[in-house]
Amino acid sequence: MSNSPVKPAEGKLGVLVVGLGAVTTTFMTGVLMARKGLAKPVGSMTQYDRIRVGKGKDKKYLLYKDIVSMASLDDIVFGAWDVYPANAYESAINAEVLKEKDINPVKDELEAIKPMKAAFDKNYAKRLDGENVKTVTSRWDMVEQLREDIRKFKAETGVNRCVVLWAASTEVYVPVNEKVHYTLADLEAAMKADDQENIAPSMCYAYAALAEGCPFIMGAPNTTVDIPAMWELSEKTGMPIAGKDFKTGQTLVKSGFAPIIGTRMLGLSGWFSTNILGNRDGLVLDEPANFRTKEVSKLSTLESILVPEAQPDLYSNYYHKVRINYYPPRNDNKEGWDNIDIFGWMGYPMQIKINFLCRDSILAAPLCLDLVLLSDLAARAGRHGTQRFLSFFLKSPMHDYTKGEVPVNHLFQQYTMLKNAIREMGGYEADEEID
Ligand SMILES: NC(=O)c1ccc[n+]([C@@H]2O[C@H](COP(=O)([O-])OP(=O)(O)OC[C@H]3O[C@@H](n4cnc5c(N)ncnc54)[C@H](O)[C@@H]3O)[C@@H](O)[C@H]2O)c1
Repeated sequence: MSNSPVKPAEGKLGVLVVGLGAVTTTFMTGVLMARKGLAKPVGSMTQYDRIRVGKGKDKKYLLYKDIVSMASLDDIVFGAWDVYPANAYESAINAEVLKEKDINPVKDELEAIKPMKAAFDKNYAKRLDGENVKTVTSRWDMVEQLREDIRKFKAETGVNRCVVLWAASTEVYVPVNEKVHYTLADLEAAMKADDQENIAPSMCYAYAALAEGCPFIMGAPNTTVDIPAMWELSEKTGMPIAGKDFKTGQTLVKSGFAPIIGTRMLGLSGWFSTNILGNRDGLVLDEPANFRTKEVSKLSTLESILVPEAQPDLYSNYYHKVRINYYPPRNDNKEGWDNIDIFGWMGYPMQIKINFLCRDSILAAPLCLDLVLLSDLAARAGRHGTQRFLSFFLKSPMHDYTKGEVPVNHLFQQYTMLKNAIREMGGYEADEEID
């Protein structure tokens, strides 16, 4: 930590998660098990990755925590909201992601995590019908009740800082509406007027988090903080925001594999991605309006890596299709197939097939941990607004579309952005050297 301008990570860090489902309980169980030395946080950049600092004979490869002050797993105190009243232990068992033998050693701690009542509107997730829901008079009332929850959590747990992470179901698609979503004044007016069509419950969580001085992370593809009004609020409150949609299975493969095609100047005529998935996330996404939100997020990945305008001979005409099929027997063990139609010398066609038998929540859990710890770091570093260095973890990175900014989707460019941000926050120089 040479000349790090970052405030040290003192005291406890509250991690308040919206949604206590498969991803959240896998994340929480893993953190609690790792804390006891009973499991390893595999896949987590903040726990394993080493970044080079310095050059030539001075170069060293350091863990993030040795570059800049980071909260540790022991510092974390969890809380959550959910539509269903099940505590984190019951929910982890119901999710059937982890075996009981990997949950039981931290049963007591998980049982103590009881969800607060959700800010929920059934029109945003028709397939959910839990009863652990707040009674509200308006969207503004939702915000106020959530703010009260955050304040109460802080007071009861004595945490020093808090981060709010959305790992709840994907809401129906809310198109950006310039009249409501472009300025903070309009957004607040719409919340006060109880505009249920333009104000998703997730926006109330985000508003409440930022207003209470907590960074907010959107792990689903919801447009929640991907609107100018929320950028304004995050500037005003000095808080970081990050989103959207955890980059786990197929999109991780896509953002890592597309550069192979693009770097070797091969052509692309089509990319067809399909999945089978049987967890509750899959059930919610079986509803067309909810799937639409996911589709928009998943489709955005290729276009900024294989850019039609930059290479019209190679990329001007490819067909990109994404499908998610709800198939209960597979539960959380998603299977994804990618068929990639490419072409080479003189236009001759070839095919690549990728079959990824993954586990959704096992891939998402380390992203939750990294996003939470790095957002807390960003807040202590005084960074506010959209955190582009976190694009590495996200399927559809936020960018200022009102100014025509193009998001970075290329996995290895995103990794460079991540490393440089950590270097800078640690007081080292950013650089572009290949390690
Ligand atoms: N697992 C992955 O690989 C992955 C990748 C990208 C994004 N995601 C997203 O992460 C989210 C969580 O996935 P999951 O598999 O844990 O789903 P899940 O269905 O198991 O859990 C989501 C929980 O959120 C709750 N919920 C819904 N609306 C709520 C609200 N307004 N307030 C509080 N709680 C609410 C539901 O009751 C449910 O318990 C989904 O949106 C999913 O699309 C997951």
